[in-house]
Amino acid sequence: MNQEGLVKRVTVPELARMRAAGHPIVAITAYTTPEARCCDAAGVDVVLVGDSLGRAVLGLPDELGVTVEDMERHTAAVARGVRRALVVADLPFLSYQAEPAEAVRNAGRLVRAGASAVKLEGGLAMAGTVERIVAAGIPVVGHLGFTPQSVRRFGGARVQGRGRREADQLLADARALETAGASALVLELIPAELAAGVTAASGLPTIGIGAGPGCNGQILVLHDVVGLSPRVPRLARVYADLARAMSAAVAAYAADVRGGAFPRPENSHDGRRWGGDGIQPGSDA
Ligand code: KIV
Repeated sequence: MNQEGLVKRVTVPELARMRAAGHPIVAITAYTTPEARCCDAAGVDVVLVGDSLGRAVLGLPDELGVTVEDMERHTAAVARGVRRALVVADLPFLSYQAEPAEAVRNAGRLVRAGASAVKLEGGLAMAGTVERIVAAGIPVVGHLGFTPQSVRRFGGARVQGRGRREADQLLADARALETAGASALVLELIPAELAAGVTAASGLPTIGIGAGPGCNGQILVLHDVVGLSPRVPRLARVYADLARAMSAAVAAYAADVRGGAFPRPENSHDGRRWGGDGIQPGSDA
């Protein structure tokens, strides 16, 4: 809160300050306004509108079917629910890989929808695109290690960077993204020692997922954390069982309707507005 009683928003430069001060960056995904409100109220620093939207919310098998329109709509929904956290939105599959100019336009669409930064996958090969997006005034978060948009190439969600050559490549990718002007790095599913090494070698704040404790922050998929994912990966921790709580609430409602316990008079309206005669033909009640 600042002196005027307004909530102080987390900005992109704040991530570097948090790294310098040794304050862990807390990040989580969200896809809808109520989810964003809950995450923001919990005090997270970053809300990522991830393309995990496909699996978590849209019932898709992976991230590949998520479109720019999906991301625009859900970024806008999340931005409406956030007061303090930094909103970062994923550039989805094929929205930035083909042409840098297209990448800039699509990044701009997500910023117009309410994101303060965009995230994209890839290292050295994406450095030119990162430069172009940053030159347009849009902060970029890089994503290295297991990058879900390349799941077909990896053959599944596999740990990356295990051999010397792969680890060196990942370090080179991190350096290329830093030189290109990226603001932070997500490191996914890589050995903890490698993530700590990248964090030490890079000037960028690193946010890990399945990358051990040596990063400057952590990110998880909201639906894994709250128990709404049918399958939770080992890298996550489940803190609640919302699937069970939701089913129980809906089952209780169904039982009340079937047993005549809902609705009660307090859930109903009388016709006083029309002189006690009940709903009038043509009224909107
Ligand atoms: O889409 C997503 O949720 C992500 C995080 C797992 C980092 O990219």
